[in-house]
Amino acid sequence: MIDEARAEIQAAEDARALQDVRVRWLGKKGRITLELKGLATLDPDARREAGREINVVKQQVEALVEARKEELARLELARALAAERVDVTLPAAQGSSGGVHLLTKVTNRLLDVFASLGYEVVTGPELETDHYNFEALNFPPEHPARDEQDTFWTEDGRLLRTHTSPMQVRYMETHEPPFKVVVPGKVFRNEAVDATHEAQFHQLEALVVGERITMADLRGAIQEMADALFGEGTRTRLQPSFFPFVEPGAEFAIWWTHPKTGREEWLELGGCGMVHPNVFKAAGYENVTGFAFGFGIERLAMVPYGVPDIRWFYQSDLRVLRQFRGAL
Ligand code: DAH
Repeated sequence: MIDEARAEIQAAEDARALQDVRVRWLGKKGRITLELKGLATLDPDARREAGREINVVKQQVEALVEARKEELARLELARALAAERVDVTLPAAQGSSGGVHLLTKVTNRLLDVFASLGYEVVTGPELETDHYNFEALNFPPEHPARDEQDTFWTEDGRLLRTHTSPMQVRYMETHEPPFKVVVPGKVFRNEAVDATHEAQFHQLEALVVGERITMADLRGAIQEMADALFGEGTRTRLQPSFFPFVEPGAEFAIWWTHPKTGREEWLELGGCGMVHPNVFKAAGYENVTGFAFGFGIERLAMVPYGVPDIRWFYQSDLRVLRQFRGAL
C-alpha cells in the first residue's frame, strides 16, 4: 500500500495535485481513514495489531506528502528565478571604430623624427598670395619655373599654394634666427590627374637658418633623416638641380631596399639647397645662411606600402583604408 501511495505522491506535479492525493489517502473518505474505520469489525487483539500497522503507513504517507510539498516549493522557486533571469553577458551591439589614415601615420612618423632632431613643427595657410608662393621665393613674374607649378586662383588674385616653401618666408618674417623648423601640409597643383598626379597632395618642408650653416649641414640633415627613417648608415645622394629659391640647388635620394621587390634602389624624394640670398632679402634677413629641403609625403606612403594609385588616398574607400590599420 505504501508503494502505491508513494508513486501517486511523486507523480503530483504541483501543490493542487498533491492536495488531491492527500485527500484521496488521508481525507475523511480517504483510503487510510477507511482502513482505520474497518478495524471496528475485528476482535480486540487483531485490531490492536492491524491498527499499529495502519498508523505506521499513515505516518509514512504524511511524511511523503510533506517532503513532496517542500520539493515542489523548491522547484517552483527555481522556475520563477529562471524566468526572471537577466543575461548580463549579452554582447553589446558593436559600433565600428575609425582609424588613422596612412598619410597621417606617415606624416606623424616624419614629425616624430624631426622633433627628435630638434626641429619645431609649424604650419601655414593653404590659400596663399602670389608674393609668398612665388615672388618672395625668387620666382620673377614671367619666370618659366612658374609654369611647372600651375594651380587654382581666386578672383582676387590669391592662389592655393603649390608647395610648402612659402612658409619659409612667413616664418622668417616673424622669427629671429637661429632656428630649425619643419612645415607639413597640403599643397595644390592644376594637374591632369592620373595614378601618380593629384590636384591635392602633401609636402614636408624643412628650413634651418643660422650664422654659419653650410651645405655640409644640409648633407648631415638629410643623412640624419634617412638614418631615422630607414636605419643607421643608409646611403643618401644629392644631384645638382634648379629651384629658384636655393643656390646651389639639388635633388636628394635615399638608397633603400624596396620592401615588396627586395631590390635595392634610389628613392628620389625631393629638392633641397642653400637658401638663395634673394629669399633672405625678401624676409629681411642679413648675415645668415641656411638650407631648405622639401618633399612629397604621398611618395613615402605609396612606395613602401605598395599603393599603386595616388587617388586612392582621397577616395575614402574603406577597402583601401582598412588595409593600413596595422601600419606603422
Ligand atoms: N618646393 C619645391 C617643390 O614643390 C621642393 C623644394 C625644392 C623645396 C628645393 C625646398 C628646396 O625647400 O630647397 O617642387
